[in-house]
Amino acid sequence: MNRRTRANRRRARVAAAGGIVVAALAVAGASGCQSGLGAPVRIVPGGSPDLGRKAIRHYGCGTCHEIPGVRSANGLVGPPLIKFGKRGFIAGELTNTADNLQRWILDPKAVEPGTDMPNLHVTPDDARNIAAYLYTLK
Ligand code: HEC
Repeated sequence: MNRRTRANRRRARVAAAGGIVVAALAVAGASGCQSGLGAPVRIVPGGSPDLGRKAIRHYGCGTCHEIPGVRSANGLVGPPLIKFGKRGFIAGELTNTADNLQRWILDPKAVEPGTDMPNLHVTPDDARNIAAYLYTLK
């Protein structure tokens, strides 16, 4: 790990000095990976934001939540889901990752037994698409 980091720094210096594009790309790739270690994953593999928006309307999430881009989603029972793709936590309980967001949507009470958000019997496919849509909100 340390040796690789030193090697990357050396390559960075080479790139800075010589302007070698290939070395610069290698360094960019490595640093992207490092920052990815601690940062939550905000991509939902296989999720369709478009179908997610439709699912949000189907399940009536908007009766309790304000959700940008979803018609008549202006409920005030739950917190607004504005800029949800930038939030650090879900319901103050879970790190906001794609997996955790789907867990929450599928069964909120399994995450936080006292929560007022009901289990809406969302299917796993719909939860994936809904999560993908919520991550477009930035
Ligand atoms: C009956 C009202 C109600 C409905 C319907 C509802 N929710 Fe919620 N939701 C809540 C409440 C209340 C909370 C706050 C939970 C807590 O912090 O314990 C919440 C929290 C959330 C959170 C976390 C928000 C935050 O600020 O961390 C997300 C995401 C969420 N809901 C998504 C959804 C989705 C998606 C649907 C539709 C499938 C939905 N909700 C339907 C009431 C509702």
